[in-house]
Amino acid sequence: MLKIRQAKLEDLSAITEIYNDAVLKTVATFDTEPKTIEEQRRWFVGHGSKYPILVAEQDGIVVGWASLSKWSGRCAYSRTAEISLYVREDCRRKGIGRNLLEEIVQAGQKAGLHTIVARIAEGNEVSIRLHESVGFEHIGVMKEVGRKFGRFLDVHLMQKILDPSGISR
Ligand SMILES: CC(C)(COP(=O)(O)OP(=O)(O)OC[C@H]1O[C@@H](n2cnc3c(N)ncnc32)[C@H](O)[C@@H]1OP(=O)(O)O)[C@@H](O)C(=O)NCCC(=O)NCCS
Repeated sequence: MLKIRQAKLEDLSAITEIYNDAVLKTVATFDTEPKTIEEQRRWFVGHGSKYPILVAEQDGIVVGWASLSKWSGRCAYSRTAEISLYVREDCRRKGIGRNLLEEIVQAGQKAGLHTIVARIAEGNEVSIRLHESVGFEHIGVMKEVGRKFGRFLDVHLMQKILDPSGISR
């Protein structure tokens, strides 16, 4: 059974393993070197309740994670977050990514965030389509801003407004 829940510090090694696999094999992240557990611990502890991290657990094993991170340290951006979404390679195409994405959007809403931004590398059609399907809109393309695996890559910017009424808390 699939369970989506808030991440705990004990999940960090599974989260890191899934992330580092994507670092080495994909352009989903523009990190090019695997993260150490210590770097990941700082990332985890720095999140706080406003910027959730969720994991997908299948039969007690963490098989994916999603997070909303601070978009910028500048105060006026405090209700804008950037999404990350990763599913273990051997567990993809089973609906886990969609579940995580839907839940992290809800978690962002509950946390009082106003908008979520996604930066998606060119060619990642699965991710682009998945984000579209939960209401993310295309807002632009940054041309050739990344370089990985020997080539320059465009980044597609997508965005979802969580409280279109603009009512702020
Ligand atoms: C993107 C990612 C999170 C999707 O996770 P997933 O668990 O495989 O996704 P799901 O099984 O929920 O599928 C979501 C949708 O994409 C479609 N899909 C998934 N993989 C696909 C593929 N390889 N080819 C075509 N369609 C695909 C599914 O059919 C599904 O559509 P539907 O709900 O309309 O049927 C996963 O592929 C991944 O971790 N990729 C590497 C990291 C990454 O790219 N992260 C996003 C960074 S912006």
